[in-house]
Amino acid sequence: MSQSRTLDLEFVRQQFPPNHWQWAYFENAGGAFVPYTVIKRMSSYMTETQVQPGYPFPESTDAAQRVNSGQRLMAEFIGAEIDEVTITASTSINVYVLTQALRHLWQPGDEIIVSTLNHEANSGPWRRLAEFGLKLVEWPVSPESAALDVNELEQLLGDKTRLVAFPHVSNITGDINDVKSITEKVHAVGAMVCVDGVAYAPHRSVDVKDWDVDFYLFSFYKVFGPHLGCLYGKRQRLLEARAQGHYFFGEDDLSHKFNPAGPNHESIAALVGIADYFDTLYSHHFDSRSESFFRRTGKLYELFAAHEESLAMQMLDFIDSKQAIRLIGSATSDKNSRVPTFSFQVASMKASEIPLLLARDKVAISAGHFYAKRLLDSLSLPQSEVVRCSMAHYNTSAEVDLLIQGLDKHI
Ligand SMILES: Cc1ncc(COP(=O)(O)O)c(C=O)c1O
Repeated sequence: MSQSRTLDLEFVRQQFPPNHWQWAYFENAGGAFVPYTVIKRMSSYMTETQVQPGYPFPESTDAAQRVNSGQRLMAEFIGAEIDEVTITASTSINVYVLTQALRHLWQPGDEIIVSTLNHEANSGPWRRLAEFGLKLVEWPVSPESAALDVNELEQLLGDKTRLVAFPHVSNITGDINDVKSITEKVHAVGAMVCVDGVAYAPHRSVDVKDWDVDFYLFSFYKVFGPHLGCLYGKRQRLLEARAQGHYFFGEDDLSHKFNPAGPNHESIAALVGIADYFDTLYSHHFDSRSESFFRRTGKLYELFAAHEESLAMQMLDFIDSKQAIRLIGSATSDKNSRVPTFSFQVASMKASEIPLLLARDKVAISAGHFYAKRLLDSLSLPQSEVVRCSMAHYNTSAEVDLLIQGLDKHI
């Protein structure tokens, strides 16, 4: 056991299939690698317990236990109770279902505030409520900094506001919004928040109770797990919402209420592998295992954050040295202010050319609007797409050097 208080990257990377490290991978905001523990859990579920869970024969009771453990641990991961989380195919479907589940609470003329900073997943489904007479109010970003201004939100909030939908972190800028203080302001006018935490949860620990959020969403395939999405809702809010599942599930059956598609058993069972992974890293870096999983993960994430901050510093030093690069988002590396996702445009080069050039040196980056099209359109940039380089805790400083060398060669 190591007592190191910095992330032991060699150990971290041993937990993943080694073929991943043949390229310097910076498309983590799109999807993260999964460790062996997740792969093993998925495979063992399908090998040993691939039956309908919950019936009184051994494979079925075992299956139910594994699915239940996946759900319970991921609820603990964000500080929630097990029945306050719904795990379905994706965040996109979770927001869509949520809008349908809440709309009966509102009257024509009631207002939903939607931030332009959102990924489309937390934007389009709310906007479609205009079809039912709801008024959609835009919370724009600053055209220069692409940041949200809370004072501007305060001007928009009023007695007709019912909900504010905004991202914890933008998948373009990487900047962290102050969810707790925004939520306080929204609650002060009696409205709810729906926070997209997809770009936050892989980097900083989530605490839904401390932030007092009404709804919080993230996707496991960005948090080192399988392709699933998680919807957290405060119990009272979930009870007020209208069930979207089969008619014979009651309104108080929270486990079925928001998943009309039904659960993906093997993938939910594989979520235990995320907890296995975090615990493997925790035991390697810290002494005691007597703390709760929530606290263990919190401590581990502090190591992730410190490492990511140093990668961010390295990247921002380079960006700062290049006149031709226009960074979309803040130029700080402070771990409390941003995660290491960097989007930019380069004068006189098309964004889509750049990933192709870097691929020659086995550096994986991406270009596009990344489903944050409304955000990019609102910034009046010279091009409609950006180059995006997004890091995770398993990236090394040597990989960032390769990225910088690759960019430096062509820009
Ligand atoms: C910030 C953000 N929100 C939401 C989503 C949508 O998540 P999902 O693919 O689970 O629907 C993404 C996906 O890239 C994202 O980056």
